[in-house]
Amino acid sequence: MKVEVTGAAPLDAEASVLAVPVFEEEVQGEKGLYAELDRRLSGHLAAAARDEDFEGKPDQCLALRTLGKLRAQQVLLLGMGPREAAQASLPKTGFEALRMAAGKASRAARKAGAKRLAFVAPRFPGQTAHEARAIVEGALLGAYRFDRYKTEPKKGKDTEGLVVLLPQGLERSKEVKEAVALARVVSAAVSWARDQVNEPPLACTPTRLAQAARDLAKEAGLHAEVLGPREIAGLRMGMFLGVTRGSAEEPRLVKLSYLPKGAAAKKPPTVFVGKAITFDSGGLSLKPTESMVEMKTDMAGAAAAIAAMKVVAELAPPFPVHALVGACENMPGGRAYKPSDVLIARNGKTVEVTNTDAEGRLVLGDVLAWGVETLAPALVVDLATLTGACVVALGPTTVGAFGPDGPAVDAVLAAARAAGEDTWRLPLTDAMQEELKSEVADMKNAGARYGGSISAALFLKEFVGKTPWAHLDIAGPSNASKERGYIGKGGTGVGVRTLVELVRARAAG
Ligand code: BES
Ligand code: MN
Ligand code: ZN
Repeated sequence: MKVEVTGAAPLDAEASVLAVPVFEEEVQGEKGLYAELDRRLSGHLAAAARDEDFEGKPDQCLALRTLGKLRAQQVLLLGMGPREAAQASLPKTGFEALRMAAGKASRAARKAGAKRLAFVAPRFPGQTAHEARAIVEGALLGAYRFDRYKTEPKKGKDTEGLVVLLPQGLERSKEVKEAVALARVVSAAVSWARDQVNEPPLACTPTRLAQAARDLAKEAGLHAEVLGPREIAGLRMGMFLGVTRGSAEEPRLVKLSYLPKGAAAKKPPTVFVGKAITFDSGGLSLKPTESMVEMKTDMAGAAAAIAAMKVVAELAPPFPVHALVGACENMPGGRAYKPSDVLIARNGKTVEVTNTDAEGRLVLGDVLAWGVETLAPALVVDLATLTGACVVALGPTTVGAFGPDGPAVDAVLAAARAAGEDTWRLPLTDAMQEELKSEVADMKNAGARYGGSISAALFLKEFVGKTPWAHLDIAGPSNASKERGYIGKGGTGVGVRTLVELVRARAAG
C-alpha cells in the first residue's frame, strides 16, 4: 500500500473512504471536524448518528455515503470515547486505540473495495509523530490478508493508497517522516511473522522455516547460521533431540545475528529466543483433535523473534542482537520420546519426561542454555506459545510475562506498553518449584495442572543461570479467532513490536 502524509484539510481529502476518529464531546457539540462534516452533509450525519445511536463511544462506528457532497465517497466515523480520557491514555498505551481504529477502517475499506483510504489524525498537541506511526501500522496491518490457498479470491479489493491527514506544517517534520518509515518496516515484519504462522505445517516445516529465516537475513543484511541434526547432537542438546525424535522432519537450529561495526560489536548482546514447534501433535501424550488443529501456531514465538530482526537491521543499534530458534516437530512417530524417558540437557541437567506435550520448554531450555553460555547476553527474552494455562489465566489477547525481579522484566513490560501489546506479569512462585521434583532425575518436564504457566516458566529458569531474562508466554495472543481492529483471524505477529521497542529503548540509552 502506498502511504502519503499530508497537511491538507480533511474536508477536501480525495479518497474513497474518509475515516475520522470522533470523541464523545464532538457528537454533542457544534465545533470541530464532526460539526463541519455534518454541515457539509446537510445535517445527515447527525441524523444518522441519532438513528444508529452513535455517540462516539469506544468501538462504535458509523459509515455514511456522502452522495457527492464531499470529495470522499464515504465517511467512516470511529468512536474514541471522551477526548480527555483518550488524550491521557493514548501515550501510555502505545497509541493502541488509534492503531485499532486505523485497522478497523482499513479492513472496512478493503471489504468495500475502496481504492484510497484517508485517515484523520486526532491532533493531540506534541503527539503527531506517534499518531502517524499508530495510524500507518494499524492501516497496513488491517490490510493484511492470507489467501494464497484460496483458488477464488475473497470478497473486497486491496486498498492501493493510505493518506494520513496531519495538522498543516507538521507533515514534513523529521519526526513524522521517521515515524512513518518505522511503521512501514514494523508492519512488514509483523506481516512476515503472520505469514509464517498462517502457513500450514506442511509448508512451514523446520527446514522451510530455517530457509525463510535465511532469506530474511540475506535481504536485511544479517548474518545467518543454520545447523542440522548432527550439529545439534554435537552441541549435546539432549532435550531438543528428544522432542524431535518422533518426527520424520529434520530439526534445525537457527541463529540470526545483527553485529554493529567497530567497538559496539564487543558490547554484550540482546538475545531473542523463539519457540519453533512447527507442529505440536502432543507427541505420545497426543492432543485431542480440537486442540491439535491450532498447533501450527506453535512456532509463533520464533516467527516474532526472526521478524523483529528485520527491523533491528534497519534500526542498526550500537550493540549486537541475536535471534536463536530451535525448530522441530512434536510427533508420535515410532522413534518418539516416551513418557518416563530421561533426557540430558545441554547444561548437564537430567529431565524426566512425564508429558511429551510439554515439549516447548525442553527445546527452549537447551537453546537458552546454549545462548547464555556462548553469547554472554546483557538480556535474553524468550517468546513462546508455551501453555494453555496462560490463556486460561489472562484470556486470549494478553501476553504473560515472567522473570525474576529486576530490570529485565521491567524493561520488557515498558517496551510492551510502548508498543501497544497488552502484557501482564505473572509470578515465578517459589513454592511451586516442588512441582518439578522427580524421583529419578534432577527434575521433570511437567507439573500439576494448576498454575501450569508458572511451572513452565520455572522450568525455563533452570537454563538461564544468572543472565537477565524475561519469558513471554504468547499462547493466547499469537493467534486470533475473531477480527479486532488491525488483527484479522489467524496469526497476529504478536511480540514483534515489543522486541522492537526493547531494542529502541536500549539504543536510546
Ligand atoms: N503448544 C502448547 C501450548 C498452547 C496451547 C499453545 C494453546 C497455544 C494454544 C504446549 O506445547 C502444550 O501443549 N502445553 C501443555 C503443557 C502441559 C502438558 C503441561 C498445555 O498447555 O496443556
Ligand atoms: Mn505441547
Ligand atoms: Zn507446544
